[in-house]
Amino acid sequence: MARIVIEGGRPLSGEVRVGGAKNAALPIMAATLLCGETVHLSNVPRLNDVVTMQKVLRALGATCEWEGPGRLKVNADGGIQEEAPYELVKTMRASFFVMGPLLARLKRARVPLPGGCAIGVRPVNIHLKGFEALGARVSIDGGFAVAVADRLVGTRIHLDFPSVGATENLMMAACLAEGSTTIENAAQEPEIVDLGDFLNAMGGRVQGAGGPTIQIEGVERLRGVSYRVIPDRIDAGTFLVLGALTRGPLTVCDAHPAHQVAVIAKLREMGATIEVTDDRITVEAPARLKGIEVKTLPYPGFPTDMQAQLTVAMCLAQGTSLVTETVFENRFMHTAELVRMGANLSIRDRTVVINGVDHLTGCPVSASDLRAGAAMVMAGLVAEGKTEVGNVHHIDRGYENLVERLTGLGARITRIEDPAPGPDNHRR
Ligand code: UD1
Repeated sequence: MARIVIEGGRPLSGEVRVGGAKNAALPIMAATLLCGETVHLSNVPRLNDVVTMQKVLRALGATCEWEGPGRLKVNADGGIQEEAPYELVKTMRASFFVMGPLLARLKRARVPLPGGCAIGVRPVNIHLKGFEALGARVSIDGGFAVAVADRLVGTRIHLDFPSVGATENLMMAACLAEGSTTIENAAQEPEIVDLGDFLNAMGGRVQGAGGPTIQIEGVERLRGVSYRVIPDRIDAGTFLVLGALTRGPLTVCDAHPAHQVAVIAKLREMGATIEVTDDRITVEAPARLKGIEVKTLPYPGFPTDMQAQLTVAMCLAQGTSLVTETVFENRFMHTAELVRMGANLSIRDRTVVINGVDHLTGCPVSASDLRAGAAMVMAGLVAEGKTEVGNVHHIDRGYENLVERLTGLGARITRIEDPAPGPDNHRR
């Protein structure tokens, strides 16, 4: 149990480093199951979700050890088993990424259905339909998705929606299928490109990742490799919005500016000044940003994973802003907490209508999910007075050393670890 306590209203400026991309590292870690040789990964963020994937890989029979800061060594050379444990999968949906690699490698996989979470129902039907198209027999048994195949055979798969996870799972499965697979209406996120690059580095034959049609020629086996994960665009984007909120100048280092086009465009529209040089992005902003409209969309649209953070900036912007969420059906949990801090907003269907106020006031708030948690911290940093953010474990899933990095920018922020409730410290 931990809390983050913030004294708000401090100017923030300086440089902050972006870590490796969680959402690229997780499928890449799962993809190591495709090969029987040692894989060395670098720029892997040491986040709770990565540790969970490490446990999933170990539970399946692989070895997975830290070799140094940001460096993971994985070996799945033998004894890989087909069933992923429910206790781990239920804590992280991305564990479902092991289904494609297990099916490809063993021709059998039993992975618990991950279930919904705070932001939506999040089914995996598109993944399962794709496995069936590749020749697997798929069933649901006791809460597990079960896939069995005599052989996987490449085919043409049209996704009903450009699901990131389904695209990744199917790319991984298709790598060891016989013949050629085409994934149409594929997700185009940079993390898909990174997975494609990783698979190719292992000897896979993936073309077109990053576009709507991905072509994969199956190969017989993949080999061990050393690979560096891309920078985290959501970590970078979160700090860019924070810089715009607190006026900056704030420089995000080690970022990949090409991945920030949508976020940069929206911040500029709000009145921020943004300069880009190689892997650095600097943001400065006037005393008050302008209200704008934004709609979340699959990449290259504005990312749903940046929606909550941008909403905080809109709460303090001049005039009315509109945020429409099209990717997830229930991703506005943070708005109720923002209202408690003084925001003026209302929800109409999938749109939040925000009338900017001139200040927020600190209070105890709760992180309902990862990005909502980041939004709460950002709101606390700009609010008057003290904010205490609870349920910090959500934030730990996706932001490495957040408190330390914010302190480096001038924030007054501390993390307090509360003792876990035990027999002697239970409240009666
Ligand atoms: C990934 C990201 C997550 C991000 C999301 C959208 C990882 C580990 N997580 O999640 O941070 O918010 O992309 O950018 O990379 N859907 C179905 N059926 C399916 C699959 C998805 O209906 O079989 C729906 C989902 O319920 C959701 C939408 O499609 O409404 C997008 O989901 P998807 O793109 O699959 O996101 P994830 O891969 O789960």
